[in-house]
Amino acid sequence: MNNRIIIFESTLRDGEQTPGATLNAQEKLEIARQLARLNVDVIEAGFPISSPGELKAVRRIAKEVKGPVIAALARTVQEDIDCAWDAVKDAEKPRIHVFLAASDIHMEKKLRKDPQTCLLEAVQAVKYARSLTADVEYSLEDATRAREDYIYQVVEAVIDAGATVVNIPDTVGYAVPAEYGALIRRIMQNVPNAYKALFSVHCHNDLGLAVINSLEAVKNGAVQVECNINGIGERAGNAALEEIILATKIRADHYPYETGINTKEIYRTSRLVSKLTGIPIPVNKAVIGLNAFAHSSGIHQDGVLKDKRTYEIINAELIGAQAAQMILTARSGRHALRNQLEIMNYTLNDDEFADFYHRFIELADRKKEVYREDLEALLIDISYADPIYELDYLHTVGGTRTIPAAVVVLRRGGESLEAVSSGTGPIDAAYKAADMITTLKTELSSFNIRAVTQGIDALGEVSITLNHEDRNIIGRGISTDIIEASVKAYLDGINKLLNLQANSNNNK
Ligand code: KIV
Ligand code: ZN
Repeated sequence: MNNRIIIFESTLRDGEQTPGATLNAQEKLEIARQLARLNVDVIEAGFPISSPGELKAVRRIAKEVKGPVIAALARTVQEDIDCAWDAVKDAEKPRIHVFLAASDIHMEKKLRKDPQTCLLEAVQAVKYARSLTADVEYSLEDATRAREDYIYQVVEAVIDAGATVVNIPDTVGYAVPAEYGALIRRIMQNVPNAYKALFSVHCHNDLGLAVINSLEAVKNGAVQVECNINGIGERAGNAALEEIILATKIRADHYPYETGINTKEIYRTSRLVSKLTGIPIPVNKAVIGLNAFAHSSGIHQDGVLKDKRTYEIINAELIGAQAAQMILTARSGRHALRNQLEIMNYTLNDDEFADFYHRFIELADRKKEVYREDLEALLIDISYADPIYELDYLHTVGGTRTIPAAVVVLRRGGESLEAVSSGTGPIDAAYKAADMITTLKTELSSFNIRAVTQGIDALGEVSITLNHEDRNIIGRGISTDIIEASVKAYLDGINKLLNLQANSNNNK
């Protein structure tokens, strides 16, 4: 198929560079498994040299996730490349992805190196990476602000050195569509050995042009698109995978490209990434925002009721968003619940199902009607941290003309630890009481709360960011009681922090 494009997914690398997004190894593995279900071609699993935890996480993904190519990022230094190779060598299909700046401003100001030194480094790095594996990608960082004659030189040299994929990133989101497409075309036409490599594009969204720039590049000969779920990534993010895929589906007349993506997994992947990174999906986000299929004006509602196609160009089922409309209650029973999970594409083994059923009943007792979104929130409400502290008891007092206070009892091993505190509100009081028990000094830098569904009895989902020394940790919790959800999120963050500390002590 000559119009098949390769989807290179970088949520676990560039996506994780989103301010505030930190994932632990288990969370990264969970996302990687879901990306494999989505059927992306390449998963960029991380930048292994950046920390021992990152190295371990990429190693696990490489060992356990089958199907896609597993790539790891490296600078042009041997230590990075060795580390990247160590991380991905057990993958079914490993790739080393090497990058170095190509623009004068990056080389001069950031690296303080001259272009010829950089060129030499690039060639040596690619040769070295090729001595380890047959699949080597080379990225010319900040290519869209580089001199074109230098781009040609580097591209030719790295292909000669053995690069199998050459990436022309718009690192700072500076390019505009026609210009970027033309650049890709000229590189492929003017570099004599260009036919020996595949060309890739990697667009950032600083001007909101990442998706259209990527599509324009494909029109002009690029065959690999680097993109991220929900468009997350450094600064304003990267091209959003779901938008690129839907453009090729809905406007195939304009973008006649095939991908391997199983579009029915888009919705689930998007929710999972948002939940685990703690980065909410804007309600008006194209393709997967909460409002993408909602109609509010009377004229629109009237039109949609008569025929959906009047105002909807995307069928929600295409992205797996509406497969399950059945409402469950505490009386629905195991069979209905299993059936619903199957419709939603979740396969649980018997033990997992028994545990899930128990949690479902607990929820259904509190909340009369359980929707698909509730089930999804429950399914994803797994803490990927060893539960060092667990919430045993919580009692809070709040309201007007009273001093907010909280009694918190936590379990640690067999011990029961209790603290009482006042605060500016019941959540603050509960957090202070928890701090008295854990004695950890953290700072809360963000607090987000969202109702999973509509209605007064909706599940509340809390996502927080805790700062501790130079670490940012995301904690999540859900409950029909938002104070309980807030405390669960706090403990999730504290547990992750303690897990990280334990891991780094073990690595010393
Ligand atoms: O934006 C960029 O240039 C990158 C490279 C490492 C590919 O993320
Ligand atoms: Zn990038």
